[in-house]
Amino acid sequence: MTPAPPKNFHTSNPETETAIDRTIPDFPAAQLSDEDKYFTHHKPPSYLPDLEDEVKEFIEYHQRNTHKRIVLVTSGGTTVPLENNTVRFIDNFSAGTRGATSAEYFLENGYAVIFLHREFSLLPYSRHYSHTTNCFLDYMTEVNNKVEINPQFADEMLIVLRKYKQAKESNSLLSIPFTTVNQYLYTLKSVSQIMEIVEKKAIFFLAAAVSDFFLPQSRMPTHKIQSQESGGKLEVNLEPVPKFLSRLVDNWAPSALIVSFKLETDNSILIKKAKNALDRYQHQLVIGNLLQTRKKEVVFVTPSGENSWIKLTDDQISKEVEIESLIIPRVIEIHTQWIENK
Ligand code: PMT
Repeated sequence: MTPAPPKNFHTSNPETETAIDRTIPDFPAAQLSDEDKYFTHHKPPSYLPDLEDEVKEFIEYHQRNTHKRIVLVTSGGTTVPLENNTVRFIDNFSAGTRGATSAEYFLENGYAVIFLHREFSLLPYSRHYSHTTNCFLDYMTEVNNKVEINPQFADEMLIVLRKYKQAKESNSLLSIPFTTVNQYLYTLKSVSQIMEIVEKKAIFFLAAAVSDFFLPQSRMPTHKIQSQESGGKLEVNLEPVPKFLSRLVDNWAPSALIVSFKLETDNSILIKKAKNALDRYQHQLVIGNLLQTRKKEVVFVTPSGENSWIKLTDDQISKEVEIESLIIPRVIEIHTQWIENK
């Protein structure tokens, strides 16, 4: 018996008998998630396309020439403007110490670093001199009518200078700024989507303190709020910032290792909140820290259910060891396992 000729399937036309069958209920219209709504209702910063070009160029350079792993370090606090021509804004405590310090240790360990930071917060390498109680001129001295580095600081400065030059000459550090939470969110979205080309060789190290509440652009006054118009009082009605971590994990950068931070002030809820974040976003690592002790101890919380503390000893504290010098190698170990196991 000769086999029946193959059927020709066509999928582009509706099946005529059922195409307008009114007895089948309508599909519910696709709902926009809070995250999607945010991007529909808020304008991107005007500089975003230029910034995206820079990030692409940086990543392609490393893909072509160095094959380095790439980490996005976010650092510092986002602001929430209360006016379009911004005089007043809501801010938070973060100075960017965690992010700037961590970026240095990633660089020392051979990573290329995209440093997404609050403009004018601490920067890798310059942080040693920029926000100290010394004026920068205190690091200088005058010798024979010339300015020289004060010998008291020279040895240490030479070490920092060499590391800085190494990062710069190898084109391993790209610094990009944000100020407002809107700029931060748009930039995070763009950079993460671009970084997806390096797949599992990417880490997101989210140390920035992101605002939890914001004033939507639709309700933001153009000009400075006048005190006499509000009877001397200012009542601000803020909306919750959508939790973009789920978008990052599921859609923007599904191949990357994602490390978020959990900041609390109450010790008794820190680990529970960190675990909740892992359950909710399904990413790989939450580093918990308390505001009061964040420079001396942190806890790693992973999906395996283990909590592992990193604590500086008294001896390390007296020698001014930076806790990030212990955190980053541990994160890199997890990244290596992530790459090998995927
Ligand atoms: O800069 P320093 O002075 O050194 O301080 C460092 C630090 C304490 C700020 C840092 O170590 C830290 O804990 N950063 C995270 C602070 C924070 O924003 O925590 P959170 O509980 O609000 O958010 C938890 C995580 O969810 C963050 O990693 C953030 O990326 C993410 N998030 C937050 C808000 C939001 N709308 N979307 C998010 O995805």
